[in-house]
Amino acid sequence: MYNEKVMDHFMNPRNVGEIEDAEAIGEVGNPRCGDIMRMYLKIDNNDVITDVKFKTYGCGSAIATSSMATEMIKGKTVKEALKLTNMAVVEALDGLPPAKVHCSVLAERAVKAAIYNYAKARNLMYEELEGFDPNDGHDHHHDHEEE
Ligand code: FES
Repeated sequence: MYNEKVMDHFMNPRNVGEIEDAEAIGEVGNPRCGDIMRMYLKIDNNDVITDVKFKTYGCGSAIATSSMATEMIKGKTVKEALKLTNMAVVEALDGLPPAKVHCSVLAERAVKAAIYNYAKARNLMYEELEGFDPNDGHDHHHDHEEE
C-alpha cells in the first residue's frame, strides 16, 4: 500500500525528537483520528530555520510526511516554510494512498502552528498565516469549538 520512499521515511524518520531551546513550537491534532504532532524549529536572526525536530503520536503516513516536511523546510526561511503545502510533501514522497492523504495535513499544519506561535510571541506578521487557526483541525472555517 505504501511506496518505497514512504516506507523509508516511516521506518527511518528524519529529525525525530525535540529541541529544548526551540524558538518555535507548534502542536496540532487531527480530529478525524485523534493523532497529534509537535514540531520544534530553531530560527536564527535572519529568519532561517536552522534545525527542525518533530514528535508525533500518529500513523505511518503522518510520520513519513512529517519526516519529509522537516527535510524540506530545514535551511529555508520562515516565509518559504509557510509556503509548504501538504500536497508538495505528498509529491516529494511520490504519493500516498488516497485514503491516507489527509494525514499529510498534520505536517503542514504543525509547521504553520509553530511559526504562528513564534510570530505571536514576537509580534510578527506573516501574510501566509492569515486565517490560520492552530486549534482548527477542519478545512472549513468555524468560530466555535466542536462539542
Ligand atoms: Fe491519524 Fe493518519 S490516521 S494522521
